[in-house]
Amino acid sequence: MEQGAGTAEETPEAMADEFDTVAWWTARAVAELGDDHALPAACRGSGSPAALDRLAASMGLTAGTRLLDSGAGVGGPAAYVARTYGVRPTLAEPMEGACRAARRLFDHPVVVADGLTLPFPDQAFDAAWSLGVLCTVEDKRAYLDQLRRAVPPGGAVGLLVYCRTVDELPEQPEGNSFPSRDELRGHLAAVGLDLLDEVDLADLPAAPDDWDAAADRVEEVVARDHAGDERWQRARAQQETIVSLIRDGLMAGVLVSCRRAG
Ligand SMILES: C[S@@+](CC[C@H](N)C(=O)[O-])C[C@H]1O[C@@H](n2cnc3c(N)ncnc32)[C@H](O)[C@@H]1O
Repeated sequence: MEQGAGTAEETPEAMADEFDTVAWWTARAVAELGDDHALPAACRGSGSPAALDRLAASMGLTAGTRLLDSGAGVGGPAAYVARTYGVRPTLAEPMEGACRAARRLFDHPVVVADGLTLPFPDQAFDAAWSLGVLCTVEDKRAYLDQLRRAVPPGGAVGLLVYCRTVDELPEQPEGNSFPSRDELRGHLAAVGLDLLDEVDLADLPAAPDDWDAAADRVEEVVARDHAGDERWQRARAQQETIVSLIRDGLMAGVLVSCRRAG
């Protein structure tokens, strides 16, 4: 596992719990339950296989595509497209616990790195994606510009973005700021990313039952071992806030596929 140019500074405690500590606990739970639990557990933050298939198709990911996954978490989505389409992913992720978990679960190249200061040369990849990350970053245009920089003109950039559907949210998980759809489109245009495809996660098929059951089982093992730990409790509270915002229609997951202009 390589150490990149920079890691996220001043990460709120609850985000570190969710994306670092719990990520590592997840890898340990998978080790107990078996490898067939790895993909469902590691994709929890990014929707169903149908969502990843849709994004892969709209981005034109095929065998041999060099894909940067920025904010890769524990690496489930990257591993899914590697297995399904023969994509060659590289993971960048600021949380060391998540990086260690990704290496243990899937063994693709991983760099500990903040997506605002990616340690790669310009145009080092054929395509780049970032799933569920933009809302954790304050300077969204600077973050998107790093993805644009990572691919050549015409190269594909994909995103899963949680967008607010109202002007103001009643509550917000610590460290998150959710753009509206119009704000998202404005950010993309401002950094030179042409929007090609946009679809709501809710309009795509849900994950198969056995996929959800495997992810649930991993969460149960993590809870069995750590529910008394305040880091687990803070991470759980973050997740519950997001789930209730989506359930109440105040927030929606949106998949977008873009091309670098020029
Ligand atoms: C909801 S998780 C999604 C993980 C993964 N992309 C997935 O879909 O399963 C958000 C991820 O963004 C990462 N993250 C937070 N701030 C970041 C930044 N500045 N640059 C890159 N990643 C960041 C977190 O560490 C976490 O792994």
